[in-house]
Amino acid sequence: MGDPVTVLGIGGYVPGVRVTNADLERHLDTTDEWITQRTGVRVRYRCAPGEATSDLAVEAGRRALRHAGRTAVDVVVVATTTPDHLIPGTAPAVAKRLGLGTVAAFDVQAVCSGFLYAAAVATSFVESGSATAVLVIGADAFSSVLDPTDRTTAVIFGDGAGAAVIGRGTAADGPGWGAFHLGSDGDAADLITVPGGGSRARSLPGQEFGAHLRMAGGTVFQAAVDAMASSCRSAMHSAGWYAHEVDHVVGHQANIRILRSVAQVLEVPESRVVVHLDRVGNTSAASIPLALTAASARLRPGDKILFTAFGGGTTWGAATLVWPSRLPATTVLGDNDD
Ligand code: UT7
Repeated sequence: MGDPVTVLGIGGYVPGVRVTNADLERHLDTTDEWITQRTGVRVRYRCAPGEATSDLAVEAGRRALRHAGRTAVDVVVVATTTPDHLIPGTAPAVAKRLGLGTVAAFDVQAVCSGFLYAAAVATSFVESGSATAVLVIGADAFSSVLDPTDRTTAVIFGDGAGAAVIGRGTAADGPGWGAFHLGSDGDAADLITVPGGGSRARSLPGQEFGAHLRMAGGTVFQAAVDAMASSCRSAMHSAGWYAHEVDHVVGHQANIRILRSVAQVLEVPESRVVVHLDRVGNTSAASIPLALTAASARLRPGDKILFTAFGGGTTWGAATLVWPSRLPATTVLGDNDD
């Protein structure tokens, strides 16, 4: 058993190009009213030309390390679907730029569920004794794969990065992370795709290779509600939690109507659902740590936090965390104002 594996620090970052619904109205057949009512998103941020996923990851990682009061970790895991390059992975460069030296560093690709998958890997590293602290970063620049003319995806997604240092706390921190319930369904692979660029559909000179994100929004919506709710039930069951005890639901920030539906199915009051997508959109692997960071001033030691995500693959997951005592309410915010 020993001391709990918990969160030692968190941080978030979004890039500087701010895109409002009014901005999108100017070149897409959409309205602020439709976007707000059907998705909840009001603002999203995009990388400037030349800016890439690792640039966001480094900033979020730096903030999380500072919040944890650490200058070293044993492992860096970057969850991303929009790596800087196919080869090399993004994590080694991030580790180096953060001054972490030659530590183990690798990427995890589970699309919007990536942060929870990476947090599960990190927790296992610490539980097994292979690491004392792991920096987990969810970072994505979906602007690099968006079709600017596709109004169903262009209005939702934004770029960003969120990070957490995961390591051993003290007995006073409570139980820390509970069980992770992760799942996937490869039969539903074509619901969210970027078809080209990999080994199945290679990029050939002069040939269209499907570089843009395609999403079957309505089908994804229902699948997300079902998978998130059932994985939450499994996680709550493992932790021995009842719905009325959950203090905060930190879910993947894809659509406010998905978050509301999951809360309704679980019978958790909507007021306990953390909503951050209005301020940054759907930032894929970054969305859970960004939402957690933005909510951090509200988190109290001992609070029961239920995480859940759904993404391409399809993949999904849920996990429980009792907020530790050692982290004071922090002023670190998810959108660059710390
Ligand atoms: O992050 C990974 C997982 N992703 C998700 O969880 C996303 C899940 N899906 C969604 O969030 C929603 O399905 C969308 C936001 C993508 C779409 O919302 P929806 O309420 O499911 O819309 P819809 O696709 O059913 O379309 C309803 C109508 C259609 O018009 P008609 O056929 O009824 O005339 C669409 O053409 O809304 C239209 N529409 C739009 N209208 C204005 C679709 N996008 C837009 C838009 N502006 N941006």
